[in-house]
Amino acid sequence: MNEIAFLNGAFLPLADARIHIEDRGFQFADGVYEVIACLGGTFLDMELHLERLYQSAGAIGISPPVSKRRLGELAQQLYLRNPHLQDATIYIQITRGITSRSHLPTASTRPTLVMTARRLELPDEAAFKRGLRAITMRDMRWQRCDIKSIALLPNVLGRMEARRKGAEEAFWVDDNGHILEGCSSNVFAVIGQTLVTHPQDHHVLGGITRHLCLKLAKQHGISVQERAWHPREAGLKECMVTSTSWILLPVRRIDERRLRAPGPVTQQLHALLMQHLSSLRRKKDRPA
Ligand SMILES: Cc1ncc(COP(=O)(O)O)c(C=O)c1O
Repeated sequence: MNEIAFLNGAFLPLADARIHIEDRGFQFADGVYEVIACLGGTFLDMELHLERLYQSAGAIGISPPVSKRRLGELAQQLYLRNPHLQDATIYIQITRGITSRSHLPTASTRPTLVMTARRLELPDEAAFKRGLRAITMRDMRWQRCDIKSIALLPNVLGRMEARRKGAEEAFWVDDNGHILEGCSSNVFAVIGQTLVTHPQDHHVLGGITRHLCLKLAKQHGISVQERAWHPREAGLKECMVTSTSWILLPVRRIDERRLRAPGPVTQQLHALLMQHLSSLRRKKDRPA
């Protein structure tokens, strides 16, 4: 299998795509990233992902080396240059570039742009029925979780702690015990009859799947609230996580609290999302 990557203007075999050891991504985690799903040739919400990437880059003072439109074209080309892929994720990383190691970058530093394409295996029916177990952890991340920074050490440690405790995801909680989001997912609860998720502020990433879920829920008459919520809140019935790679998975346990999974709202939202993805796939099937 000839996996092709993109590095600073060139498509090349993944094994030949090498980054300088003084790239600031490697030295300082000085960069941002994006993960976009491509379903049989159709990108899911490409514009929203690119918008978030350019916002993240702008927020840390990096000017991406190509326009948003050009980057979208390059992502599509990368997908086409990896014909072994049907459903894929395109990973895009932009770092501030290469400088001799010093906290202050030089004015002439040119950003590094990297893209890779990987097979996307969406969770199947069995995985959906199984659901996830989650643990809660005090949020130890920085104050700008809305920026999709490549500095993911807390997220890695959170996920490792989850695994150590026999769970699949760790939920970050604030000082009041409110659930913010997961290590690589947004979190929704069903409280009473209402779908609840933490507001989109600096404490959470504005997930593209979160956005899609809220849109579909509102379109189909599910009542929605964006507010802080607590895992021991009265009336909590269901919980689910959303992300590009998981789409939507039920949570069957938060710490010791067991929840119905998948509950009726989770099932309804999941079905809506699956319909949406199928309609995208039908739009543009890759020719055999
Ligand atoms: C911290 C965090 N929150 C939420 C998400 C979900 O975002 P999206 O739905 O755009 O994949 C991710 C995805 O990587 C994430 O890392």
